[in-house]
Amino acid sequence: MDKTLHAAAKAALTHAYVKYSHFPVGAALKLKDGTIITGVNIENASFGLTNCAERTALFTAYAQGYRKDDIDAILITTKKDRIVSPCGACRQVMNELMPADAPVTMVDATGNHTTVKNAELLPLGFSEDDL
Ligand code: THU
Repeated sequence: MDKTLHAAAKAALTHAYVKYSHFPVGAALKLKDGTIITGVNIENASFGLTNCAERTALFTAYAQGYRKDDIDAILITTKKDRIVSPCGACRQVMNELMPADAPVTMVDATGNHTTVKNAELLPLGFSEDDL
């Protein structure tokens, strides 16, 4: 596991806006130029408008001008003692905005972790090729 990326995602947890779920999620994206961009979940009283940590990190990177090929890896962590994996909406966004072979590392609060390739998270996914 990338310790720098893990430390960044863990530090970001404190910035999560989780008024309703009280379930902070931190994500850290590593760009090929060495930049690390973090994201957290940002909730809303209209629950469906909540933005997950993974999407916050990816949208921030894109807003700064980075694109798919600039992305190296993503790491996601929570305060739970079990590994949490990205939700369906995030998988769809990750599928389009991150390279298929980018490693996605999921870390629990005790440091247990697992890594899969981005493409493994969304088999048979809908993509721009289907349009
Ligand atoms: N959440 C994330 O940030 N990422 C995920 O992949 C799963 C869920 C957030 C959304 C909501 O703020 C909270 O976790 C509980 O669902």
